[in-house]
Amino acid sequence: MTTTTIEVSEPVASGESARYDVHIGPGVLGGVREHVAGRSAIVVTDSHVRKLHAAKLALDAHVLEIERGEAAKGFATLERVLETFAQRSLDRSSVVVALGGGSIGDLAGLAASLYMRGIECVQCPTTLLAQVDASVGGKTAINLRAGKNLAGTFHPPSAVFADSSALMTLDDEEFRSGLGEVLKSALLAGEDFTSWLELNAAAFPRRDAEVLAETVARSVRLKAAIVARDPRERGERKALNFGHTFAHAIEHVAGFGRVPHGVAVGVGIALAVRAGASSGIAAAHAAFVERVDRLLAALELDGSLATLRRRYGCELPARELIASMRLDKKGRASEPRFVLLEAPGKVRLDQTLPAEVVERVLA
Ligand code: GLY
Repeated sequence: MTTTTIEVSEPVASGESARYDVHIGPGVLGGVREHVAGRSAIVVTDSHVRKLHAAKLALDAHVLEIERGEAAKGFATLERVLETFAQRSLDRSSVVVALGGGSIGDLAGLAASLYMRGIECVQCPTTLLAQVDASVGGKTAINLRAGKNLAGTFHPPSAVFADSSALMTLDDEEFRSGLGEVLKSALLAGEDFTSWLELNAAAFPRRDAEVLAETVARSVRLKAAIVARDPRERGERKALNFGHTFAHAIEHVAGFGRVPHGVAVGVGIALAVRAGASSGIAAAHAAFVERVDRLLAALELDGSLATLRRRYGCELPARELIASMRLDKKGRASEPRFVLLEAPGKVRLDQTLPAEVVERVLA
């Protein structure tokens, strides 16, 4: 299997562009050493990922372990990471290597963007979720009590190494979580990626390496094209939040870390498609809803709040989900905003929904 390299060009505040390569394929983690060459580095990871993958970096660098999952995305861990950077005498030429899933990438990326007003960060995503979405585009964040990802920065990585062999080591739930973001990418990209996903859905549960690498490459190409035009989410990039207004509320109300992000995104997509159909935006409402439901089932993702409540043993009351959505950073003046789809690739941004439609889909 060959390696695919996709160049991302992200305009930054100075009017220039941050350019970086996303390397996709088995064994690409071995390329980090050459990228870092001659500079001091620190690896930020968790104990589980460290055992599985840190040796593949072959770096002579301190390895800093932080908590696993969303538990890492708070001020206490951010402070510990920044203090460690200082204790290890990192300077402006140093490189932070974020090795792990989306939470590690978000937290390490944020620490890199703050330390000495910004040092380089290399993203080494080891989960499907982080490879198809979170590691590309420069978003970093921690959670606040009031909601998910409410404190963060835009800090593009200097390179991304998405090693396909890491996907074979994920437990089933982590893997399924990535499929929620894959479904999002396919539906946003349009008919070509959506029909390709339908044709190849059966290959996912057996983790076919070629199909996974192709999925990551297709998702990264979509994201690269979007962030090149709208790095700061003033318009088009909002599309990448498809399913996320509902998903962030689900994660928040369940308690961060209880429902995996991508699993919540899968349900968020099912709810958004139903809400879009109820408010009349989709041309063939029932057919589109059924198509999305079939894809969710083929990818073995939860497609309703009822199955999510049962699987994770949480209540997720509609009134609490609505209160959480009012605080979502995508909303304005406490009014939640949604990304809705008329059909694959036909995106409507910044949509408001009648309260009765939201209440009905959350019932
Ligand atoms: N995960 C959505 C974005 O990067 O914009």
